Amino acid sequence: MPGSNLMHMAASWMNYLKQHHERFLNELVDYLRIPSVSAQSAHKKDVERCADWLVNHCRNMGLKTRLIRTQGHPIVLARTPRKKGSVKPHFMVYGHYDVQPPEPFDLWTSPPFEPRMEGDHLFARGSTDNKGQHFVHLKAVEAYLKTGQELPCEITFLIEGEEEVGSESLTPALKKLKPELDVAAVVVSDNGMPSLKHPALTYGLRGVTACEVTLVGPNRDLHSGIYGGAVDNPAMVLCQMLAQLRDSQGRVKVPGFYDDVQALSLLERSQARKFPLKDEAMARSLGVRALFGEKGYLTVERRAARPTLEINGLTSGYQGEGSKTIIPSKASAKITCRLVPSQDPRKILRLLKRHLQSICPKTVRLHFEAGHSGKAYVTAPDGPYAKAAMEALEVAFGKEPILMREGGSIPIVTEFKEVLGADTLLLGLGLPDDNAHSPNEKMSLTAFTKGMHMSAALWQNLAAHS
Ligand code: BES
Ligand code: MN
Repeated sequence: MPGSNLMHMAASWMNYLKQHHERFLNELVDYLRIPSVSAQSAHKKDVERCADWLVNHCRNMGLKTRLIRTQGHPIVLARTPRKKGSVKPHFMVYGHYDVQPPEPFDLWTSPPFEPRMEGDHLFARGSTDNKGQHFVHLKAVEAYLKTGQELPCEITFLIEGEEEVGSESLTPALKKLKPELDVAAVVVSDNGMPSLKHPALTYGLRGVTACEVTLVGPNRDLHSGIYGGAVDNPAMVLCQMLAQLRDSQGRVKVPGFYDDVQALSLLERSQARKFPLKDEAMARSLGVRALFGEKGYLTVERRAARPTLEINGLTSGYQGEGSKTIIPSKASAKITCRLVPSQDPRKILRLLKRHLQSICPKTVRLHFEAGHSGKAYVTAPDGPYAKAAMEALEVAFGKEPILMREGGSIPIVTEFKEVLGADTLLLGLGLPDDNAHSPNEKMSLTAFTKGMHMSAALWQNLAAHS
C-alpha cells in the first residue's frame, strides 16, 4: 500500500533526525563559531574558513561539493549524488553563510561567536540569519543520504558568502552556473514566521536600495566659538535635509518616490487582516510607546507591502567622552529604501540623489555614493509547489500555515526568477524576537527541530507535486 510505504519512509528519516539531534546541534555550534562577517575586511580569512568548513561538511554528508571562487567571497555548491539513468525533479536550496557585523559588543550577554544554549534558544551571530536556517535543510537531506532512503528529487545547495552585503558576486556566477541549475523551484529559509504556532509561506519580499550621503563643510574641524555664526555646520545641514525626506506619518517626500507603487489588491488586504500578531504586543516587545507609519495601512502592510526610507547610520563630529566644542568638517548618513514591486531601485536612487542636490545649500558640498540594490519579489502562492510547501509546514508544525509577504530583502531571489526561471518558496524559521541584525541574535531550537521535519517532508511533497 502506498500509504504505509510513505509512513515507513517518513519513519526512517524521522528516526535519524531524532537519533542524531545532539550531533546536529554540536555541528551547528561549530559553524556558528566562525565569525564570517562579510562586511568587514578584517574577517576575510574567517569568511574563507567558513566556506571551507561548509565544503567539508557537505562532502562528509555525501554531497558532491565544490567551492566557487569569485571576486568577492566564495560560493559553495553541493549536489545530491546522481544515479545513472534516473530522472528526478531538481530543486535548489539557497542560503548564506555570511553574517552581519556583531557590533555593539557590549550589548551581547555572551560573546557573539561563542554560541550559548539557554532554554529553547541558541544564541550566536548568524544563528537565525542564516546558518541555523539553511542547516536545517542540510540535515534533512543528510537523513535521506545516510539512511539509504531514496530522495525523491535531486537537490542542489547554493550557499553564498555575500548576502549581507548585496550578493554582488552571485549574480554573474548564477549566469555561468545556469546549465547545472535547471531547477524547478528554489527553497529558501532566510526569513520569518509570526510565531511557532503560526508557520508561514512567504510569497513576497521587499526590494532595497542603499546609499551614503556625505556633506563636507570647512576643510577641518573648527572651534565653534571662533567660527560659529560664520561657517555653516554640516551636521546641522544634514539633519535639516534628512528631516525633509519623510513626513511625520512616514510618507516619503522624495518627488516621484511613489510613482510606480501599485495599490494592494483586495485579496492581499484580506490576507493581511488575518495576520495573527497584535500591534500592542509588538510595541510592548520592542519597548516603544506607539507604533508608527503611513495612515490607511495595517502594520503588516506597512512592514511588508509599502515602501520606506530609513536612516541606518549617522556620523559626524565628536563621539567620545565629554564635550568638544567644534563645527565638524563633515557629516554623513547611510540610507536605505525598502521597495515594492515595480519600483526600480536604480531609479529610486536617482530620484533621491537629485532631490538631495536640490535641497542642499551652497555652504556645504554634497557627495552621494550609491550602494547595493535589489528588486522586490512577489509570486502567486497558488501553484503546486506552494501547496507542497504548505503541507510540509503543516505536518511539521501541526498548524495550518498562513500566507504572507515580508519586509526584509533577499535580492538574489528575483535573479532566480529572471536567470533560472524558477520561483522561490520562502519557508522562514525566524521568530520576531530572534534579534536578527541585533545583539543577542538567537534561533529557536523548536524551530530548528521542526524545520528539519518540514524539510524532510518537503522533498517528498515537492516530488509528489511535480
Ligand atoms: N534574512 C534576511 C532577509 C529577511 C529578513 C527576509 C526577514 C524576510 C524577513 C537577509 O539576510 C537580510 O538581512 N537581507 C538584507 C539584504 C540587503 C543587505 C541587500 C536586508 O534585508 O537588509
Ligand atoms: Mn540578514
